Amino acid sequence: MSLRYVTVLGSTGSIGVSTLDVIRRHPDRFKVVALTAAKQIDRLANQCIEFNPAIAVVSNADGAKRLSELLRDKKLKTQVMYGADALVTAVTDSACNTVMAAIVGAAGLVPALAAAKAGKRVLLANKEALVMSGDLFMNAMKLGGGELLPIDSEHNAIFQCLPANFTKSPQSHSEVEELWLTASGGPFRNTPITELVSITPGQACAHPNWVMGRKISVDSATMMNKGLEVIEAFWLFGLPLEKIKVLIHPQSVVHSMVRYRDGSVIAQMGQPDMRTPIAYGLSWPERIDAGVGQLDLTQFAALSFSEPDFERFPCLALAFEAATLGGTAPTVLNAANEIAVEAFLDQGLPYLQIPVVVEHVLNSIASTPAGSIEHILDVDTQARESAHQYIRQISG
Ligand SMILES: NC(=O)c1ccc[n+]([C@@H]2O[C@H](COP(=O)([O-])OP(=O)(O)OC[C@H]3O[C@@H](n4cnc5c(N)ncnc54)[C@H](OP(=O)(O)O)[C@@H]3O)[C@@H](O)[C@H]2O)c1
Repeated sequence: MSLRYVTVLGSTGSIGVSTLDVIRRHPDRFKVVALTAAKQIDRLANQCIEFNPAIAVVSNADGAKRLSELLRDKKLKTQVMYGADALVTAVTDSACNTVMAAIVGAAGLVPALAAAKAGKRVLLANKEALVMSGDLFMNAMKLGGGELLPIDSEHNAIFQCLPANFTKSPQSHSEVEELWLTASGGPFRNTPITELVSITPGQACAHPNWVMGRKISVDSATMMNKGLEVIEAFWLFGLPLEKIKVLIHPQSVVHSMVRYRDGSVIAQMGQPDMRTPIAYGLSWPERIDAGVGQLDLTQFAALSFSEPDFERFPCLALAFEAATLGGTAPTVLNAANEIAVEAFLDQGLPYLQIPVVVEHVLNSIASTPAGSIEHILDVDTQARESAHQYIRQISG
């Protein structure tokens, strides 16, 4: 395999750190050329000292100043930059051929799209890029001529279970009856619904099987994460929404499945460790050591599967509603959810108000065609303002 030159967007986050862990194990295969972060300047500085990238990007001038100070006298070639445009520069000007898109939220959209247009191998963790701009993003990938490797464990699993070149050969689509996305059900799968009233951010972020960033942990608890993944799967694999199903599987051993028309169901299994899909994306079509322990199936008394309860998980129902509406509805859903989750984590919005905020905003902004990135970002801003306003109103 020829050397891969890697830009890690969001290198200080959960996915970013796991990506660098896989890369660290294979210095003969991967070279880091750009790293980006928002606030964790000290962590980014340590990563720069270890990997010596050509470019390091942070959010603002203060962060850039501090990073430059931390890197002074280290004899690095790293150029420190800041701001949203610099994230695109990290993709286009760093001589990378591979981009890990692992910025959380809508902020990751523009640089991920830049990677698609530039024909890079895109390792897509930032699901918001597909949720908000699925059509534009998939077209940009097609025009750019690069490779798209899904990193979300469920989509990576499905990618592994589908025939090679599935997305490029629509005639093979009729062979697939259903995609089954598995979901752990999060920490409140069995909590009496009456007790959900007093859930704290600490409880919501304590995921039973996966260690993840705070925002995605809350999304796992509400199952909004699975809803966003349904939309992501719709764009990635080009199958109708009716063929995408969600199954609760508390053990998180089966990462997802494909049911074929001949009766076969192909599943991908493994430890709940994101380094497996990350390593697969980095090295595809080869497989490399990811540092992940082996799966011992004898340790599980049973693997269980059940249908999700939409009453317990109203966010999942809202995501299906937005997916069916299409256009900018998923952007509105995603933006309202980001604001509601932030308010839950930092401003005391009650846990059960998250779906209430999302539903209110979804109902108040009509869906329009998601024809341009400018329009999508306008709608995103509008939905965020509407969510803020509604939260102030109900908190008031
Ligand atoms: N964690 C998982 O297991 C997992 C699994 C599947 C998919 N994903 C997806 O992968 C993405 C990353 O998730 P994560 O859990 O790694 O998130 P995370 O731990 O919160 O890390 C997010 C990264 O993005 C950076 N960032 C945050 N806001 C930014 C902004 N406005 N501009 C530029 N950079 C910004 C952060 O920088 P600072 O650290 O400096 O703030 C950090 O490097 C998400 O879209 C998530 O849905 C995650």
